[in-house]
Amino acid sequence: MDKLRVAIIGTGKKKERPDQFGFAMAYRHADAYRLLDACEMVACADIVAENARAFADTCDVAHTYSDYREMLEREKPDIVSICTWPHIHEPMVLDACRAGVKAIHCEKPMSDTWGGAKRMAAAAKEAGVQLTFNHQRRYGMPFVLAKKLLDEGAVGELVRLECECRNLYDTGTHFIDMLSLFNGERPAKWVLAQIDYRTEDRVFGIHCDNNHVVLTEYENGVFGLMLYAGRDKAPVGCVSRLIGTDGVIEVGMSAEVPLRCRLAGGKEWRALDAGGGGIHGPNLINIAIADVVACLQEGRRCQLDASNALIATEIIFGAYESSRRRARVDFPLDIEDNPLMAMVASGDLRPAPGG
Ligand SMILES: NC(=O)c1ccc[n+]([C@@H]2O[C@H](COP(=O)([O-])OP(=O)(O)OC[C@H]3O[C@@H](n4cnc5c(N)ncnc54)[C@H](O)[C@@H]3O)[C@@H](O)[C@H]2O)c1
Repeated sequence: MDKLRVAIIGTGKKKERPDQFGFAMAYRHADAYRLLDACEMVACADIVAENARAFADTCDVAHTYSDYREMLEREKPDIVSICTWPHIHEPMVLDACRAGVKAIHCEKPMSDTWGGAKRMAAAAKEAGVQLTFNHQRRYGMPFVLAKKLLDEGAVGELVRLECECRNLYDTGTHFIDMLSLFNGERPAKWVLAQIDYRTEDRVFGIHCDNNHVVLTEYENGVFGLMLYAGRDKAPVGCVSRLIGTDGVIEVGMSAEVPLRCRLAGGKEWRALDAGGGGIHGPNLINIAIADVVACLQEGRRCQLDASNALIATEIIFGAYESSRRRARVDFPLDIEDNPLMAMVASGDLRPAPGG
């Protein structure tokens, strides 16, 4: 059987210490594809020619391009990994759909605007392209086991989900997405939120809130609560909390306790074996990309699918919109922009220069 031809857009530049100005995620994608017999990496594109060259040399890729459209046209890849910053995910996804690829695996967050996220999902659906986003933590053992415990009824019926992460947009896209996993991928009905943005914090170029309080209700009546009040405070105290009628499950209390649970009426927490896995790994991107490729081969819907990613993305932009309107926002979310970026652009929010 012919191998699936893989091309990468946005190779990045490998650094000793990755930061919010560059993680070179393409190298992580390449490591994953190289483990798969079904795939061969045929080309890469980066507007910085030396980045593409270095990537090609390290990852043994034959062809390099500075124009990704030319690469799509000439190489006719089956799978494209998009590893650029979020403000250019949309044009790249749309171009890849037009070029006739079979699958696109794009880095998170989906887009810098709600309109962009919706357009990408719609274009892929229309073109019959498998579009997935790299919310790789869904494959992390503590989260997988928490979901299994929940499904087995260990804490009764799910009532509320909570999460705590540094901002809604960049890290929130992972941890709010995880709530969708726990809640059976049900969309939310509304969101009520406030954010604080007193100090500029751009992650991969996009403004991200400093603090937030968000309440949402999902279609099945389960509530979602997202809280962040700064590094030295822990209003939730773990990355995910699943509250049921008969008990509570917590994920990511600490590195030592990745998973624990407490039954109703009991005072004792029970630390659970998470199979040696933590909330960041190991090997989550390898596992995620292996599943993306297997889903393409088997015609199976991947849990990283755009339709699932849209659920968290609507809550994130809905929360920013709720802060802009000073009101509860009912879904479907009827905006196109990024309300936080718009509030900064209009001068409604004036963050002090950040560190
Ligand atoms: N899944 C995760 O856990 C995780 C972790 C870190 C970063 N990310 C995401 O990965 C994405 C990429 O981040 P990164 O840190 O790897 O970026 P990076 O800066 O390391 O690499 C991006 C590359 O894209 C190139 N580029 C820019 N415009 C281009 C164009 N028009 N055509 C071709 N190449 C172009 C740049 O020259 C750069 O080399 C972001 O969306 C980020 O949020 C995800």
